[in-house]
Amino acid sequence: MKFFIDTADVKEIRAAHDLGLVDGVTTNPSLIAKSGRKFKDVIKEIVSIVDGPISAEVISLDAPGMIKEAKELVKIHKNIVVKVPMTPEGLKATKALSEKGVKINVTLIFSPMQALLAAKAGATYVSPFVGRLDDISQDGMGIIEEIRTIFDNYGYTAEIIVASVRNPIHVLNSALIGADIATIPYSVIMQLAKHPLTDAGIKKFLADWESVPK
Ligand code: E4P
Repeated sequence: MKFFIDTADVKEIRAAHDLGLVDGVTTNPSLIAKSGRKFKDVIKEIVSIVDGPISAEVISLDAPGMIKEAKELVKIHKNIVVKVPMTPEGLKATKALSEKGVKINVTLIFSPMQALLAAKAGATYVSPFVGRLDDISQDGMGIIEEIRTIFDNYGYTAEIIVASVRNPIHVLNSALIGADIATIPYSVIMQLAKHPLTDAGIKKFLADWESVPK
């Protein structure tokens, strides 16, 4: 299973990368805004840290606008994946760009049928948002299971990126279901590494070590 980090904060990206846990990065306009930096500057720095797919999102709502933005974005680096919203215009852009070899991550997916449409249009990645579904009392992980089944039924190769991850249980369930990727905030990556019994074990080993003759 691949881990992407869901942030535009290069400090977090470097820290997780140093742990050997980052296979790729996803950003979105909100995360870029949070970084307080210029879009292209951040993306350029991210591609210099991580050698893997880096998603950069378009903001146009019409296909010609998305295609124009995509052409600029892919000039930055060969690892750029263009993120487009799951709308009819987004699908049109996905078809046109994927036919030209541009890798597309279709984002803001909230149903299995939206994921199927994105895969049919030629997306390399589909991003269903589990946390935001949970927020409105719908079963976020349930749609991951359904998308996995549908893609396996018909041999779609689009990779499922579990997005809007809020906690370690989302990551555990993504792995159990067989999602290809989870894109995880830095705080959740750190939670995954922690266990109270690991900390207690270290404390006990160090305490016992004190009694070893020096
Ligand atoms: C995915 O690519 C998105 O950037 C992200 O996972 C959205 O998460 P949020 O619902 O926590 O904003």
